Amino acid sequence: MTEEKTRILTGHRPTGPRHIGHLVGTLNNWVRLQETHDCIFLVADLHVLTTDYQHPDQIVPHTREIVTDWLAAGIDPQKATLALQSAIPEHVQLCLLLSMLVTDARLHRVPTFKEQVQNLNLEPSLGLLSYPVLQAADILLYRAEFVPVGEDQLPHLELTRELARRFNNLYGETFPEPEPILSRNPRLPGTDNRTMHTSYGNAIFLKDSPEETTRKVMSMYTDPTRIHATDPGHVEGNPVFAYLDEFDPDVEQVGELKARYRAGKVGDVAVKRYLAEVLNRSLEPIRQRRAEIAGDSETIEAVLHDGTRRAHHIARESLSETMDRMGLKLRIPLDHENNSQNAELRGAFC
Ligand code: TRP
Repeated sequence: MTEEKTRILTGHRPTGPRHIGHLVGTLNNWVRLQETHDCIFLVADLHVLTTDYQHPDQIVPHTREIVTDWLAAGIDPQKATLALQSAIPEHVQLCLLLSMLVTDARLHRVPTFKEQVQNLNLEPSLGLLSYPVLQAADILLYRAEFVPVGEDQLPHLELTRELARRFNNLYGETFPEPEPILSRNPRLPGTDNRTMHTSYGNAIFLKDSPEETTRKVMSMYTDPTRIHATDPGHVEGNPVFAYLDEFDPDVEQVGELKARYRAGKVGDVAVKRYLAEVLNRSLEPIRQRRAEIAGDSETIEAVLHDGTRRAHHIARESLSETMDRMGLKLRIPLDHENNSQNAELRGAFC
């Protein structure tokens, strides 16, 4: 049944719990796409090491955390495949093969690499430089046709398309050139009006309780030019209204509130109280699902095991074909693989 659907691959690095920015930017979209496409959602834990290799203790808890959040947000393991990148060695293998088809100079020009190097106090590693090659491997390994991503990931998609083209030119039509499905823009701001970021202290997390959410909303940044509730307020660039636009289905009510805010007829506290209610109501189904699964590490691991096995099945076939095309045609069954045709040397000599 899933075989006939167009394949989508996307993923997150397990860097911490998911917040409402992830929800409206990506997860809601994934939940819709899983109905119509053959979706693989990848926990890109190898990618975490490109910058965070000094914190090995965090990867497993963060992996559990994001899988829990994905499920709470409505990702359905009956419909979509949730896979763990590091458990499928073919990702690394394809990354190495693809790295033959790109120059070092090309990778140095990737804007995300340049930004990361500026932000890091470390010498950039070879692993960081090849970040987008590993991402290309994630995508091409499954012959994905679409990749839902944020705008910041477009340079990686462009490189992926270049690699697919180059491979196809050299070795024959193998990989589709994947197209991005862009997440909605602009992004939801953080409670302090900077970009919402797990580590900035300005995020509302899916796992936050209603009380915690209300507390965060009540301390939100609003309109810095407004001193008294009777001063005319600004709605544009005001994160409280950005959230209302996103989460309140009652558009008319929001319109009215904006008009009163602009006219200086409603105070910040009243608007925030209203937003806290709206937000808590909207997050309630997610919290309910989370309450059912959080702490049930067996279910979470079972979901990841199942999905990873399913993905591995595809990955193994696909890597084998890729190796063949590049001339690596000898297959030697290794001892530990418990292969019944143990002594047999498969593969073509040509
Ligand atoms: N680089 C992506 C990010 O930081 C995560 C990622 C890894 C990814 N592999 C991917 C996204 C493959 C899409 C497809 O958000």
